[in-house]
Amino acid sequence: MNILDTFHNWRRKRRWNKQYRRGKWVGLKSEKEAIRYYQIIDYIKKYSTRNPSILDIGCGEGVLNERMKGLEFERFMGLDFSEVSIGLAKNKNLPKTEFIAEDAIKFRPKHTFDVIVFNEAFYYIHETEKDNVLNRMLAHLNKDGIIISSIYREGTGCWEYFKENPKLTELEFTTVRTDEELRYWKIGAYKKKLEKNEF
Ligand SMILES: C[S@@+](CC[C@H](N)C(=O)[O-])C[C@H]1O[C@@H](n2cnc3c(N)ncnc32)[C@H](O)[C@@H]1O
Repeated sequence: MNILDTFHNWRRKRRWNKQYRRGKWVGLKSEKEAIRYYQIIDYIKKYSTRNPSILDIGCGEGVLNERMKGLEFERFMGLDFSEVSIGLAKNKNLPKTEFIAEDAIKFRPKHTFDVIVFNEAFYYIHETEKDNVLNRMLAHLNKDGIIISSIYREGTGCWEYFKENPKLTELEFTTVRTDEELRYWKIGAYKKKLEKNEF
């Protein structure tokens, strides 16, 4: 990113912090949104190894983790660049879970994971950084690991980014609809496409 984009990224982070402080995102915990988290959890149950390690990029207040009741996991890491949302997530003291305040654009994982989730977060990755972020995450995905992405409505340039990405093989893709015409999400599960010499 150039200096101007870096500045805008910093301003966006400040805006997220302000919004979390004001409680603008409490609606994510509502039953109206639950169906989206359940679809992600279904994909994890269906396509991931048992007892997976999970990385949630742009985890906000950790709602995905809270919705995972009944899903066994080895460890969960939630990352968000909003220190305020991470503070709220940490206060929940969720078991086997670590929340860290970091920018996905700079984040270099210290571990590998079985599941990496971009849950309503990929739109906020600057266009010039999307490949860098995905490549870094793919490098930290275990063999047989999966990537899950959820995108609200059309989220232009986001769900197609995953669906049409030559580095990924689609396992499943669905549009999760609600009784509100304009409340829907495009959610996909993918695995890493193997290179010719990998098997
Ligand atoms: C719509 S919220 C979704 C929160 C959460 N994934 C959920 O669905 O409950 C988007 C989140 O992405 C985070 N975010 C945006 N850009 C980010 C970045 N560059 N690095 C890390 N987090 C980012 C925001 O702070 C915000 O918490």
